[in-house]
Amino acid sequence: MKIANKRSLTGIIAGIAVLATAAFSFTTTVADHPPVTGDLDAPEAVKQIFQHACYDCHSNTGQVQWFDRLPGVASFVSRDIREARKHLNFSEWDRLSAAEKEGALWQAYNMINSGIMPLPAYKTLHRNATVSASELATLRNYLNTRRKAVPAVAGKTVTDTLTTPATLPVAATGIRFMPEFRTWQVMSTTSRFDNTTMRVMFANPIAMQAIKNKQIHPWPDGAIIAKVVWEKERDSEGYIHPGKFLNVQYMVRDQQRYKDTGGWGYAKFETPALKPYGTVLTAQTCASCHKAAANTGGIFDLSTFN
Ligand code: HEC
Ligand code: HEC
Repeated sequence: MKIANKRSLTGIIAGIAVLATAAFSFTTTVADHPPVTGDLDAPEAVKQIFQHACYDCHSNTGQVQWFDRLPGVASFVSRDIREARKHLNFSEWDRLSAAEKEGALWQAYNMINSGIMPLPAYKTLHRNATVSASELATLRNYLNTRRKAVPAVAGKTVTDTLTTPATLPVAATGIRFMPEFRTWQVMSTTSRFDNTTMRVMFANPIAMQAIKNKQIHPWPDGAIIAKVVWEKERDSEGYIHPGKFLNVQYMVRDQQRYKDTGGWGYAKFETPALKPYGTVLTAQTCASCHKAAANTGGIFDLSTFN
């Protein structure tokens, strides 16, 4: 037994040695090293996480392993690195505006959190690429402290851009415009780079409590979520602010009353006069899309959930 083991071990070692020699004898340049124009500026603890888990592909200083140079592997690794740098390059961090840096870090965090990055296939061979739960927490804490430094999108601007009409408009579904959303807590904000709008979601106290207690299967009756949509305005530093107000949309929870639309009542009010939008049928359209968020009880954007 012992001898057999030793033999196979020797065999493996020899095999590896042959492979490694073969690998080094290939002259393939898996990754070039363009100059670092400006490295990521972040606390050391944060930087180290990105360095060990992401820099192999998302920087100009990545190190490839000997097996990455193997024929058949090298071309894939090489392509991955080229693609990865196009999307996110920590060595050319200086090329991003303040707001783009902020966005890139959140995107990076979300990618890790959802298991999309580092590429799972890569993690199996490159143990160093794995991000531990505590490292993920370090990233989240860092991003949350930075968030305070970003000019608030809600608050003052909301009231500035929206005047409440004397009589509150009512949508076809019977839901009236609720100006009190201004006093509700912000549940999340979304702003998409491929879209010219930004949105802030507000949750009424019942909805907020449900989120805190993670009791959203089903959401309690009385929960209301408002989504306010503005056009984007970009300032000189690249930060995006709400510009022209476009519309407010509501989702009101009442399982009995709105059972035809999944227990949520839908309403949308458009500017300039908060004109109710659509018919009862429109609510069906809203509901059929929101079905895609069944995992979170019909609500898509729960950034405050974690
Ligand atoms: C093995 C190489 C590799 C590693 C390691 C890697 N990535 Fe990527 N990453 C890629 C590739 C390839 C793409 C481009 C994917 C595409 O084209 O859809 C990408 C894209 C991205 C994007 C942009 C996605 C988009 O849609 O714009 C982000 C953000 C990202 N990676 C974050 C990370 C983070 C954070 C890490 C480290 C925790 C990491 N990646 C580690 C290869 C890698
Ligand atoms: C094609 C799909 C689709 C349709 C149709 C749709 N929504 Fe949404 N809705 C979304 C997505 C995606 C989000 C979350 C992200 C965002 O808006 O930035 C969202 C978010 C919301 C939110 C905030 C709560 C949440 O789920 O995050 C409200 C309120 C809302 N929509 C109301 C409506 C109303 C009212 C209608 C119909 C007039 C409607 N929606 C139609 C896709 C849709």
